[in-house]
Amino acid sequence: PAIYRKDYTPPSYWVRTVHMGFDLDPSATRVATRITLERNFDSTEKAVVLYGDEVELVQIHLNGKALSKRDYALKDGVLRIPVAVNEITLDIETLIRPDKNTSLMGLYVSSGNFFTQCEAEGFRKITYFPDRPDVMAQYTVMLRADKTKYPVLLSNGNLIEEGDLGDGRHYALWEDPFKKPSYLFALVAGQLVCQEETIKLKSGRDALLQVWVEDGNLDKTQHAMDSLINSIRWDEERFGLELDLDRFMIVAVGDFNMGAMENKGLNIFNTKYVLANPRIATDVDYANIEAVVGHEYFHNWTGNRVTCRDWFQLSLKEGLTVFRDQEFSADMVGTDSGRAVKRIDDVRVLRQAQFPEDAGPMAHPVRPDSFVEISNFYTVTIYEKGAEVVRMYQTLLGRDGFRKGMDLYFKRHDGQAVECDDFRAAMSAANGRDLTQFERWYSQAGTPRVTAKTSYDAASKTYDITLSQSCPATPGQAKKLSFHIPVAVGLLDSSGKDMTLKLDGEVATIGTVVLELTSAQQTFRFTDVNEQPVPSMLRNFSAPIVLEYDYSEEELAFLMAHDSDAFNRWEAGQRLATRRLLALTSSAQKSDALSIDQALSDSLRATLNDTQLDPAFRETVLTLPAETVIAEQMDVIDPQAIHTARRFLRHSLAQALRADFVAAYKANQTRGNYSPDATSSGKRALKNLALSYIAELDDADAHALAQAQYDVANNMTDRMASLSALANSQAPGKAAALAQFYSDFEQEPLVIDKWFSLQATARTTDVAAVRKLMLHPAFSIKNPNRARSLIFSFCNGNPSRFHAADGSGYVFWAEQVIALDAINPQVGARLARSLDRWRKYAPELQEKMHAALKRVAAAKLSKDTKEVVTKSLAAT
Ligand code: ARG
Ligand code: ZN
Repeated sequence: PAIYRKDYTPPSYWVRTVHMGFDLDPSATRVATRITLERNFDSTEKAVVLYGDEVELVQIHLNGKALSKRDYALKDGVLRIPVAVNEITLDIETLIRPDKNTSLMGLYVSSGNFFTQCEAEGFRKITYFPDRPDVMAQYTVMLRADKTKYPVLLSNGNLIEEGDLGDGRHYALWEDPFKKPSYLFALVAGQLVCQEETIKLKSGRDALLQVWVEDGNLDKTQHAMDSLINSIRWDEERFGLELDLDRFMIVAVGDFNMGAMENKGLNIFNTKYVLANPRIATDVDYANIEAVVGHEYFHNWTGNRVTCRDWFQLSLKEGLTVFRDQEFSADMVGTDSGRAVKRIDDVRVLRQAQFPEDAGPMAHPVRPDSFVEISNFYTVTIYEKGAEVVRMYQTLLGRDGFRKGMDLYFKRHDGQAVECDDFRAAMSAANGRDLTQFERWYSQAGTPRVTAKTSYDAASKTYDITLSQSCPATPGQAKKLSFHIPVAVGLLDSSGKDMTLKLDGEVATIGTVVLELTSAQQTFRFTDVNEQPVPSMLRNFSAPIVLEYDYSEEELAFLMAHDSDAFNRWEAGQRLATRRLLALTSSAQKSDALSIDQALSDSLRATLNDTQLDPAFRETVLTLPAETVIAEQMDVIDPQAIHTARRFLRHSLAQALRADFVAAYKANQTRGNYSPDATSSGKRALKNLALSYIAELDDADAHALAQAQYDVANNMTDRMASLSALANSQAPGKAAALAQFYSDFEQEPLVIDKWFSLQATARTTDVAAVRKLMLHPAFSIKNPNRARSLIFSFCNGNPSRFHAADGSGYVFWAEQVIALDAINPQVGARLARSLDRWRKYAPELQEKMHAALKRVAAAKLSKDTKEVVTKSLAAT
């Protein structure tokens, strides 16, 4: 049942206009849709092809004439009407049941209000339609509903008219002036309130901005509003892109499959990415809200004005928009050090989530060649690796060159549905650069490995860097061709300063050069190099690859202390720590005694105490690589040994640096009113990291420190950090604190999610404890945020417990995948991904994982989950 990119054919008919009328009722919503269509002569297909999914077709008229079942063919959700004329009007009436819709795709009910989610193929759950992104049309939407139950009626675009219907019902008529694909359609109806603000756009036009939430949440919308305004300003500044509507709305909903959705003029958000105040949200929540509000807003141009021809091109809009939100967040911090911390965070996500995906059974190119269910392809590869691919254009072409490419992209394609190749062509044409080979980043899956070798010749004063590349096989792609890889490099002299770089035959640059690796192996020669340098490779992580170079311990410590590239200062520390962790893991496997040497703790101490460095940056250096990152470096993953090793290292560092951590804890207190700005949140991050190390010691002083912070915390960041320290300790106050936290925040679903998630990932939490938490009255498997906070947090965020030797974690996983899949295929299929890497574990574990996979595969499954487990079982 897979569909292939190569099989793309243009639509048989274009849709010009869509008029929809909704009679909203939770148990029976009637949808009347009038669409005008026009034959597309580029297509050989003569029938009108409409898609429907779980909708009852009440009646269908063609040019005013009722069609009978003999006039069309309806099979597997595809409705084909043979038509002979070029212009037609279809009237389609459907009946749907939003209250029974637990998939959260199409029209559904959450807390008594109506919401929609149509990307990717949800519109077909509302009506029969040519539901494909290359069919763009102009929409007018009439909403009718009970006035008291649904006082607010919203859809895309501008409100044209509203009024009373006399029978206790009312209506609102909306018109979207821009043509759009059906996946950007949205409606919201219910009891909602909004914070609003009118701003002047760069051109002088006014725009009305609104953030809609449930009653009682208006004290949590300011940050989303600020983030929206900042996003609008940023896109005007950085890319010359202005808001094209008079009205822009954000609506928060508590039941949502993903983060948020960029529906034209009516963005719908998971509450998690809207609601914030110091009482309920952490610094990370504040940063995430800013990023997601930015992301959805930026889609207005990269996604909506220019959209995707087909879903294989998903990264065209997602990779580009993630890159834009990353740059936005970095610019909001402003400082070089802040930018580096943001970059480090983004690279961490890539390494923790995307590298494993790229090495597992679901590996796929940034532009996939096939899929069974498109919902399964909203992945870290499409989003985060896609963003890295976009970033590489900027690295290769420069900021100005990238902007020229963007300008040309909009000039050529505004109002169109296009392909990833069109973006590359615009970048290439605007800059006069041949980017043919760059295409392989879109077509080949897998994380490339680049090995560097260097040699210095004192007599000729030359320094050679030889880079060779390879890429492991991925499903369906045994052999890979060479990638076009930008490798940013600097050379440090013995005082730690950047050398002036002179590449053979080229003009000198100070600092960083971008080497362009295009063959399997290439040597780059630097001339006039007066002494043996220390190379700083892949600065700012200039390509999504693994770079291997045989650094000595001294070189890494030197880079950690001196590199002008803050990312690589961090990277050097991570390389050192990774070596130790791998060595400790191997000792743990052999039950050898574990020990650490002075060198690592000295380097880390130096960074911890270097007050010239921003606290936020110091925090990233002192944070050890995650267990999942270490796991990816092993031929056979041993979760228990990794866990033992990492805990041992943290404990040893806590002992060795205790006084330093205590000093950092004291020096980085924030005073006064809470503010989520980068400086304050950086201080809290370092202070709370110090607390977490001190808590490793699990003694009375550590308990007292955590308890004291818990008792006086005036913000959720400090509260969560101290609760987490307590929850992972033997502190006498642990149970009381957890109970107190629950009763303090019982009324705040997003905080109760944190409460579940903190316990799900606590060291002492085993499967039995998770099962017990599932019986808690506040737990509900139907709410995706809640399911993620407990079930996903345990399966993905507590590896040593999930991979318990008796296989109990896998039995639990299988049960939950089956249960979730029946309710909500997207969420079920997401959990199904937790066993992606089963082939990497020891045979005893593999066997148990295999049994769990088989058990899931034998159940009655959605095509979403079926695709994931089928691919996992096929892994070799
Ligand atoms: N386009 C949305 C975003 O990136 C994500 C929507 C995904 N929806 C889905 N059902 N898979 O912001
Ligand atoms: Zn997006």
